[in-house]
This record gives sequence, C-alpha cells and structure tokens, in this order.
Amino acid sequence: MRAQQNWDGLSRINHWVLAVMMIGMLVFGVYLHEFMPRGPEKAALIGVHKAVGVLIFFLALWRVGYRLVRGFLPDAAPMARWQSVSAKLAHWGLLASVVLMPLTGMLGSYFGARPVDVFGMFTMPAVEIANADPAGMFMGLHGGFAKLTIFLLLLHLAGALKHHLVDRDATLKRMLGRA
Ligand code: HEM
Ligand code: HEM
Repeated sequence: MRAQQNWDGLSRINHWVLAVMMIGMLVFGVYLHEFMPRGPEKAALIGVHKAVGVLIFFLALWRVGYRLVRGFLPDAAPMARWQSVSAKLAHWGLLASVVLMPLTGMLGSYFGARPVDVFGMFTMPAVEIANADPAGMFMGLHGGFAKLTIFLLLLHLAGALKHHLVDRDATLKRMLGRA
C-alpha cells in the first residue's frame, strides 16, 4: 500500500541531516543571543554559527528543491482533516525556515559589512560600508523566524510522537525506513 511505503533514502538523509543541524543551530543561536556575554569568545562562536549557517543554506536549497520535484507521500494513516492540514502547514513552514533562517542571517551580515568566512573554504561577500536599516531588519527577521520555527518544530515533534506512541501508525517508522 503506497501510504505505508518508506520515504526514499535521499529524503530520509535530507530530513535527518537538516533536522540535527537546524535544532543544533536554534539552540546555538539562542545560547549566543541570550546567555553569552560580549567578547572575543562570543565573536569567535558567532563566526562558527555563521559558517555552519551558510553551509545549511546550500544544503537547504538542495533539500527543498528535491522535495518540490519529488512531492510528498500521502498521510501514513487515516486522520482528522485538521491534523492532516496542520501537519502539512508545519512541513511547508519548516521547509521555508531551512531557507529563510540562513538567508536572513546572511543578508544581515551582508548589509552589516561583515563578510562570512566559511571555514577557510570561501567567503560570502558584504557591502563596504554597513547599512544599519536593512541589517537591523534582516536580523530582526532572523530572530522572529527563529521563534516561529521553534513553535512549528514543537508542533511537528508532538505530532510525530503522538502518531508513534498513541496512534501507533507508521508515520515515524517510515521516516526511519522501517515501515
Ligand atoms: C541556518 C540556520 C540558522 C539558524 C537556525 C539560526 C538561529 C539563530 C537563532 C535562534 C538566533 C538567536 C536569535 C534571537 O534570539 O533573536 C540567532 C542569532 C544570530 N544568528 Fe543565526 N541562525 C542560522 C543561520 C545564521 C547565518 C547564516 C548567519 C549569518 C551569516 C547568522 C547570524 C546570526 C547572528 C549574527 C546572530 C546574533 C547573535 C547575537 O545576538 O549575539 N545565523 N541565529
Ligand atoms: C527530532 C526531531 C524530528 C522528528 C522526530 C521528526 C519526524 C518527522 C516525521 C516522522 C516525518 C514524516 C511525516 C509523514 O510521513 O507524514 C517528518 C517529516 C518532515 N519533517 Fe521532521 N522531524 C524532526 C525534525 C524536523 C526538523 C528540525 C525539520 C526542519 C527544520 C523537519 C522538517 C520536516 C519536513 C519538511 C517533513 C516533510 C517531509 C520532508 O520533506 O522531509 N523535521 N518529520
């Protein structure tokens, strides 16, 4: 039965690699923003946050492109319409987030006149003289999208756990390749 089939291998790799990276970056970003005092140590860690973020941007283009071309599987099991619709909204929101989180960060750095060195491999360019208006706007969006992403992620996680533990259907198993 088609609905019971596993997500294909590339979809599973894309999903779990980006999931680990995005959750790591959300925790890292909140830690940097909320708990870390200013100083050279913070500046160095922000450099790591930015470099990983730029790599995520390119992985995200591939991940979202692949999903748009391949489409989604139908629901793993029959469920109420509101559940199916909210799951889909969360999926689309999370797909948007893997592109918009790094993009807003990159544009913030671009207009803030801060080129981003990506682990010595290449450098993302920036304007010569900082322009505080767009830089501030993009960093504001970066923080706002982060909160929205955390909300969607909690919804997504609660859904995955409910399907697995309460409904005991194949939703989680088919993303693990075990349907
Ligand atoms: C790829 C996914 C990314 C995620 C999930 C992410 C997540 C976050 C989060 C949650 C925060 C804290 C925001 C707040 O509470 O207002 C943050 C801050 C920040 N992010 Fe990102 N980020 C990503 C990529 C990037 C990129 C690509 C750049 C720049 C090239 C960047 C630059 C920054 C900067 C400069 C801060 C502010 C740190 C501070 O206030 O001390 N981020 N990020
Ligand atoms: C530990 C955390 C996570 C768990 C347990 C989890 C679980 C799942 C499961 C079971 C599915 C399949 C749903 C179905 O077949 O109908 C799924 C799909 C999906 N998840 Fe997650 N997920 C997690 C984290 C994330 C994160 C962090 C993101 C994005 C930032 C994400 C984005 C998506 C998207 C876009 C889909 C739709 C299919 C696809 O394009 O991969 N997930 N997730």
